[in-house]
Amino acid sequence: MSDQPQPQQAERRNFYGRVHGKTLRASQKDYLAQDLEPLRLKGVTPAENPARQPLDLSFTRGRPLWLEVGFGGGEHLVHMAALYPQAFLIGAEPFVNGIAMLLGKIRAAGVTNLALHPGDVRDLFDVLPAACLEKVFLNYPDPWPKARHHRRRFVTPGYLQLLARAMRPGAEFRVATDIPDYVRQTHEEVPPAGFTLIAEGGPGDHWPDWISTRYEQKALREGRQPHYLTFRRG
Ligand SMILES: C[S@@+](CC[C@H](N)C(=O)[O-])C[C@H]1O[C@@H](n2cnc3c(N)ncnc32)[C@H](O)[C@@H]1O
Repeated sequence: MSDQPQPQQAERRNFYGRVHGKTLRASQKDYLAQDLEPLRLKGVTPAENPARQPLDLSFTRGRPLWLEVGFGGGEHLVHMAALYPQAFLIGAEPFVNGIAMLLGKIRAAGVTNLALHPGDVRDLFDVLPAACLEKVFLNYPDPWPKARHHRRRFVTPGYLQLLARAMRPGAEFRVATDIPDYVRQTHEEVPPAGFTLIAEGGPGDHWPDWISTRYEQKALREGRQPHYLTFRRG
């Protein structure tokens, strides 16, 4: 795997998740209209950066850069930004209703140490400089339960190679899931991509700074068990 920023051309990719959900409330439309653009990372999409030039990360002002993949309603992202003002966080999420929820939470919390990519995280990986990420959170990734859809999961080489390139050696990768078969695939696929498993636990064994997410709450209501895995980038 090269340490250089890789693709010089935008790659065409399929995204299988939802982008739109329920009708947005008026307040959520306001958040999107007023707050998204100032927080949106520029130069990430192939349309804005067709040559896939690496992003200038000077906006972090030297703070360690953390990423949350698929932040959903944004509770974990805002919680971490508030808890760690010395870090700078990026959240990637294509689901517009989730982005609107996050923007409401950002307003309420008043945090300023974060930026968003309102789209597929793979477009962000393409333009992140190599080894720039110090911590990455993957909370309750889409489970894709049918066997023929397992290749759409985040814990597959297509995603993991991009992730590994963007993470600094020694950086931490956290995965939370409620799907036993996702745990299996995470064990199988993440280490060969350049990571070592350093901790793992079941219900209640979460990270000390964890906040339960919307999806975790739903999983618990429906009787599924959380599972938490921590990897170190080699
Ligand atoms: C099951 S939800 C979990 C949301 C949130 N992390 C939580 O725990 O409540 C998975 C989220 O990942 C997002 N997602 C899926 N594929 C993605 C991708 N390629 N890039 C960024 N986000 C993605 C989905 O839009 C969805 O909101």
